[in-house]
Amino acid sequence: MKTLLQINAGIQGEHSQSSILADKLAEALLSNAHGCRHIKRDLSVNPIPHLDHGTFQAFADPAAAKTPRHKAGLALSDTLIAELKQSDTLVLGSPMYNLMIPSTLKSWIDYITRAGYTFQFSESGPVGLLQGKKAFVIIAQGGKFLGTSADLETPYIQMTLGLIGITDIEFIYAEGMAMGPESADTGRQEAFNKISAFSL
Ligand SMILES: Cc1cc2nc3c(=O)[nH]c(=O)nc-3n(C[C@H](O)[C@H](O)[C@H](O)COP(=O)(O)O)c2cc1C
Repeated sequence: MKTLLQINAGIQGEHSQSSILADKLAEALLSNAHGCRHIKRDLSVNPIPHLDHGTFQAFADPAAAKTPRHKAGLALSDTLIAELKQSDTLVLGSPMYNLMIPSTLKSWIDYITRAGYTFQFSESGPVGLLQGKKAFVIIAQGGKFLGTSADLETPYIQMTLGLIGITDIEFIYAEGMAMGPESADTGRQEAFNKISAFSL
């Protein structure tokens, strides 16, 4: 059975543009993919804790998890990685907060980027272990940074997903969300138009 994993990272609840667009995209993709399983995580509702040293040590050596906190962190990492491994398609709703991805999304990345599980080291550098997946990344931003040196999110997400082997990535941008209602409408519409062109 095919599986679509959706991660929403916006903190603005029902006003979160990246979440609204990620929901629309997931709905559009699922409408064409009968029987496709949908796993959805809203990181603002169920945040991933910041990674700490003991949990990180347990990632490499699960027997090293001695405290309840480290055991829970290890179990969470196992669950998040299992969700990702099962998935054929990843939909990521990522706002721009203070020029970058939200810290909640960074925590998710910290829990799924795990040596021996989602990537491994080789003589020529790290090799991603999650090959053959397709990712859709929706970036909502207050200003318009696409194609400028201030767009730090696109290369960062490309690098982090690439590290674990996900290189087939479609980026969808909703720009100008904080530049007045007209600009927000235009940015949203452009993103909607792009979304409607995709299917599984
Ligand atoms: C905490 C916070 C920080 C923000 N920082 C930026 C920023 O650095 N640059 C920018 O263009 N817009 C910034 N914005 C505006 C958001 O990018 C915009 O509201 C976008 O719609 C966020 O996605 P969301 O609606 O899914 O939350 C920020 C918004 C918030 C709430």
